[in-house]
Amino acid sequence: MSATADIHAHPRAEDVFSACAEFLVERLATAVRARGVARIALAGGGTPRRLYQLLASRYRDALDWQAVEFYFGDERNVPLDHPDSNFRMARLSLFEPLGIQPHRTFPMISDQQRDPERDADAYEMALRQWTAGKVPRFDVTLLGMGSDGHFASLFPDTPALGERKRLVVVNPVAKLHGHRLTLTFPVFETARDVVFLVLGEDKLEALARVREGRTELPAERLAAKRPTHWFVDHNAIGTP
Ligand code: 6PG
Repeated sequence: MSATADIHAHPRAEDVFSACAEFLVERLATAVRARGVARIALAGGGTPRRLYQLLASRYRDALDWQAVEFYFGDERNVPLDHPDSNFRMARLSLFEPLGIQPHRTFPMISDQQRDPERDADAYEMALRQWTAGKVPRFDVTLLGMGSDGHFASLFPDTPALGERKRLVVVNPVAKLHGHRLTLTFPVFETARDVVFLVLGEDKLEALARVREGRTELPAERLAAKRPTHWFVDHNAIGTP
């Protein structure tokens, strides 16, 4: 079995998003009360969009959102206004509807220079500013999971999986014929809470492996190493 995988399963997607939103709001509000600021690394991809819309609507008054700093777990190597940009998805579904001040949002890619290695270094410097060079401790890292067990842009059989020193790297992903920017394992292992949001039948096998406590796939490795919270639908976890 994984370290402690705390699984919240619901039949309907909307119930999964609501439960995940409640959890995130509670954790972020706790961080703001304790430290005056909450730092979250957002997930990209398609699943979180509805969660972000929910946070920006039903939960818009649930906490002082201006006390939250929004980072990203990974980013595609595209301009910030590109349809594939994770930042763009979060901007449209969360930041703009919530009126988040731009200086509270931290995109991984800078449009000016378009040099991913410099972007990765700059992001790492920004992260290290919180904690005088140590590994920064996010209050929450929100993650999706691919059917191959990847999370963020830590894909199976890619160089970033073995990175133990750098916090942000450019990771070549052969199956995508390109590279991504991603936070590395030390950051996810250090976070106060790691939250996975996983829906859909295509995630069934990878999620079953995580629950068995296997340690080959990236998500399995993280779940075996530290406590994780999973918000899943019945399609992804296989209950009737
Ligand atoms: C990305 C994400 C990635 C995503 C998974 C699941 O940039 O695409 O960070 O890790 O969370 O691929 O994607 P879906 O939510 O679209 O299934």
